Amino acid sequence: MANMPQNKLNILHYPVQSWVANASAVIQNAIEECLLVNSVCNVMLTGGVTAKKIYQEWAIAKSLPLERIHFFFGDERCISPDDQNSNFFMVMSSLFSGGIIEVGSISRMEGELPDRALAASRYENLLPNHIDVLILGLGLDGHIASLFPGHSALEEELKLVVSVSQVGVMYDRISITPRLISQARKVFLLATGAEKGKVLAKALSPGCSNRDLPVCLTLDGTWLLDNEAYSQLLINK
Ligand code: 6PG
Repeated sequence: MANMPQNKLNILHYPVQSWVANASAVIQNAIEECLLVNSVCNVMLTGGVTAKKIYQEWAIAKSLPLERIHFFFGDERCISPDDQNSNFFMVMSSLFSGGIIEVGSISRMEGELPDRALAASRYENLLPNHIDVLILGLGLDGHIASLFPGHSALEEELKLVVSVSQVGVMYDRISITPRLISQARKVFLLATGAEKGKVLAKALSPGCSNRDLPVCLTLDGTWLLDNEAYSQLLINK
């Protein structure tokens, strides 16, 4: 195993075929634990096809206590919420494909606003004191939410939500910042496949920085990996 950092990193891994069932159950368990001591659970969702599989699993199982969950978004593309490329559209068409009955609340990032900074500050103003369960996907460049390697948003120390423009990245974005991630009670990183495993192996290597690989911001969280991703962490033990 690569040098494990002095963090509280928890790595859970599952066979490819059962990853969705296991990962969705682990996160649901965290939500239910939160609800043992709170009346509502603040859950922040990510975009991406990996997370969509989790949302679809929850929609089929119909076992999430939706009426006691306040849903937020970790990032959004600056497009209409009706655009199928928006994270909001993806969540509504997967997790809430059966309709949004009895949902505690869904707080959408207003990516469609021409003033991106205004959209970011409006979203920050409606956030709760903390996020109980933060779900993040992993990009092959090591990004999480819309925090891309080398972006100045990674240096933001005060704001919880910022607007992001990055050369080579489709769409301007609204994204949470490292500060919000650090304040989240439980952080789950979803990563499947060998290529993402290679990214995570780099994140575990000594001297890796959040600026180089924003996924390093999740080293105090729980990584939910399939065995193809996990196997990359075992190479060069
Ligand atoms: C987005 C997501 C982004 C995503 C990763 C992984 O808006 O695209 O928030 O952070 O989670 O890029 O995406 P995949 O699961 O599709 O690989």
